[in-house]
Amino acid sequence: MKIGLLGHGVVGKGVSRICDASEILQIKRILVKDDWELTDPRCTQNVQEILDDPEIDVVVECMGGIEPARSFLMKALQNGKHIVTSNKKMLANCSKELFAEAKKNNVSIHYEATCGGGIPWMASLERILRIDPIDSFRGIFNGTTNYILSRMDEESLEFEPLLKEAQKLGYAEQNPSDDIDGMDVRYKVALSCMKAFKVMPVLEEIPTYGIRYIQKKDLDYAKSQGMTCKLVGRAVNDGKCIQASVMPVFLKKEDVLANVSMNFNAIESDSPTLGKAVFTGQGAGSLPTAHAVVQDIYDIAYNEAMDTVDAAIAPVVNNKEKTFYLRTVNLSLYEAVCKEKIDENTCLTKKITLDELHALIGKNEDKDLFVAEVQE
Ligand SMILES: NC(=O)c1ccc[n+]([C@@H]2O[C@H](COP(=O)([O-])OP(=O)(O)OC[C@H]3O[C@@H](n4cnc5c(N)ncnc54)[C@H](OP(=O)(O)O)[C@@H]3O)[C@@H](O)[C@H]2O)c1
Repeated sequence: MKIGLLGHGVVGKGVSRICDASEILQIKRILVKDDWELTDPRCTQNVQEILDDPEIDVVVECMGGIEPARSFLMKALQNGKHIVTSNKKMLANCSKELFAEAKKNNVSIHYEATCGGGIPWMASLERILRIDPIDSFRGIFNGTTNYILSRMDEESLEFEPLLKEAQKLGYAEQNPSDDIDGMDVRYKVALSCMKAFKVMPVLEEIPTYGIRYIQKKDLDYAKSQGMTCKLVGRAVNDGKCIQASVMPVFLKKEDVLANVSMNFNAIESDSPTLGKAVFTGQGAGSLPTAHAVVQDIYDIAYNEAMDTVDAAIAPVVNNKEKTFYLRTVNLSLYEAVCKEKIDENTCLTKKITLDELHALIGKNEDKDLFVAEVQE
């Protein structure tokens, strides 16, 4: 099987290393951007040498970003090539047009590495779906934030120095916004919905709260209640709509997700006959992520094509009442929903839906607040 690889960074290098050790997978060309990257005779700076090569069966995209990744993959599909991508941002934003094009050309799109790095999450969903509908899933989908939250909890440290350390270790990017503001998890929740429920939520409708404004004292409060804080992405299939959110959750210490620490990911599915099943492992990194990419290539080689699902768009409705922890510079804005004041800036809300709280936060334009759901 001949492969064209787009992008030779952290994931791309892992993919070429694993493929080069395989007897049946052959990387024919590698697209790179800069002259200094032309270290391998297979490298090219001309994408047409990949997209127009009739010998190339599979185009693997590990470049990141929406453009030009989307255009290159559209062209690859039009030229009858299967595609594999690790790029959650691009796929979550452009899935509809890419899947329609794949269907038209009778080729498939594989995206295991977009969620949970090396964890076989999409493949496990496929297997569960042969027997069960998936009722819901929830998980720790982001290793960077889990690393920061684990160390804040275990060593009683503040957020800022830990973010700097995560950047130094290469866990967090220089612009860490997608990780710490929850957007990375939002893309993964949307793609997991597409696989698990066969419907795609509107990205902007998923309430998304990150950990940018978390402080040590928030963790101290959670600890005093026998809880810890995790950034959780979750979705429930309600038939006509999806309940979906990304937000910090104060989890009881005995919860299986509460015990997943450092840069590990863990995702739990719930379905009628299997019940709850938890999948855990390395959520990122060169070789674990490349492992997931290459598993997808093997699926194509062995003809185990993923569905070319044309997922309908489903509205997001979060109408279950819950308790939330709020810390803000202006608590008086939340008087109507406050049940118990913890200090002058912090309260626990009475039971309200996330939709109600999200609307209130939007109306208050309170962008600096820290909000967490408190597990029942
Ligand atoms: N790293 C992980 O652990 C991980 C895990 C799961 C998923 N992913 C996803 O995998 C994708 C790649 O991530 P990564 O960490 O490997 O990123 P990376 O290290 O930045 O690698 C991307 C490579 O693609 C190159 N590139 C970008 N645009 C290009 C173009 N037009 N032509 C040729 N080369 C181009 C970049 O070159 P320049 O640097 O010169 O721009 C870079 O060398 C992203 O979508 C990411 O979200 C990553």
